[in-house]
Amino acid sequence: MNDIYLAASILSADFTCLREQIQSAEDAGADWIHIDVMDGHFVPNITMGPVVVEACRRLTTLPLDVHLMIEQPELHIETFANAGADLISIHVECNPNIHRTLQQIRALGCKPGIVINPGTPAISIVPLIQQIDYVLVMTVNPGFAAQKYIAEVTPKIAEVNEFLEHYHSNALIEVDGGINAETISLAVNAGARVIVAGSAIFNHPKGISEGIKELRKAVH
Ligand code: DX5
Ligand code: ZN
Repeated sequence: MNDIYLAASILSADFTCLREQIQSAEDAGADWIHIDVMDGHFVPNITMGPVVVEACRRLTTLPLDVHLMIEQPELHIETFANAGADLISIHVECNPNIHRTLQQIRALGCKPGIVINPGTPAISIVPLIQQIDYVLVMTVNPGFAAQKYIAEVTPKIAEVNEFLEHYHSNALIEVDGGINAETISLAVNAGARVIVAGSAIFNHPKGISEGIKELRKAVH
């Protein structure tokens, strides 16, 4: 399938040579670079922030897909946009004024997306459909790389797809967590078009390029 975008999640990259890692992912055909921002509050882990986004901006022309797993994301949208984010997604679970935050993302020239955790129902996207360019359906509970794909989420991807079609939305469905050569087809068959993969790409025993090749082959 050609209309599948692969977003390489640098959370699993080797940060001592981020330039080479991103270059290899790009050469192997990654479509987006996915950057996981965690604050130790919304999720039990602390990762990276705008400094890393800014560095990635200078390393690649691929779209930078910034996944904010932080409380009060509205306080940081401008910083991430200025750092070079192209797409910014925020969780529905931690955002009491989410329309305003999504509008803020668009006003800064980025594409807004919403993220729903495994325990959040598909219907929660409905009041936001007009505001978004993509829905990120988490297939693990966010916080860590290399977790196991939660199979119960697969029907929810299809449900999100149905809601988007019903409301004539062109928003893309992205999935994130536990995606590998075995699970990718479950998500794609349910309607996912953007596939985030971290460990399956950066920790593949045969290298980044083979990791990307395997994922592509699994959905052809
Ligand atoms: C999880 C992050 C993911 C993570 C995916 O909280 O949002 O983007 O990097 O890693 P894998 O593909 O290894 O499950
Ligand atoms: Zn992510």
